[in-house]
Amino acid sequence: MKNIAVFVSGSGSNAENLFRYFEHSSAARVTFLVSSRREAYALTRAANLGLDAAVFFREQLRDPEFALQELKRRGIDYIVLAGFLALVPETIIRAYAGRILNIHPALLPKFGGKGMYGEHVHRAVIEAGERQSGITIHRVNEAYDSGRILFQAAVDVDPDDTPQSLASKIHALEYLHFPKIVEAEILKLE
Ligand code: GAR
Repeated sequence: MKNIAVFVSGSGSNAENLFRYFEHSSAARVTFLVSSRREAYALTRAANLGLDAAVFFREQLRDPEFALQELKRRGIDYIVLAGFLALVPETIIRAYAGRILNIHPALLPKFGGKGMYGEHVHRAVIEAGERQSGITIHRVNEAYDSGRILFQAAVDVDPDDTPQSLASKIHALEYLHFPKIVEAEILKLE
């Protein structure tokens, strides 16, 4: 049984969905939630779920040893970024090479990169007149949104879509696919 840490910065609805999915998995459990922001609603979710959680502040993420030690002492095997808006320190990327996944709420390589998160992405997609958007699940390397793509799923952008309505379509796709892709990746490790 592997231990997953989910990294978040905001609401944490994907983190909660992952936690609930892995309660019934024979491959792994979500045992730790890391937030880059003290006020993230994800921390309330974690408390309600009885999930161990911590805030890693910017300075702590810059400290090469701090975050790694926190993960190691909890026996974390796998890291999932679910709406995490800070850069993952290189020490962690090296220590967890091939064992970090991110979800992006668009069809990369379009609409990726620095500053492209959450509703900023959906607004950019609508303003560009795209007929489709979707989700991309990819491995994490040192640069934003450029690691190997493992999975994509698309959804139509309707003429009357707003960033909010598009966000809910995208969230539905995320809830459906993300846990299964994470689980399949973890099973490949064994
Ligand atoms: C998700 O849609 C995720 O794809 C996106 O943030 C949202 C977090 O929602 N991630 C990014 O934009 C990363 N560039 P949640 O906190 O409700 O899970």
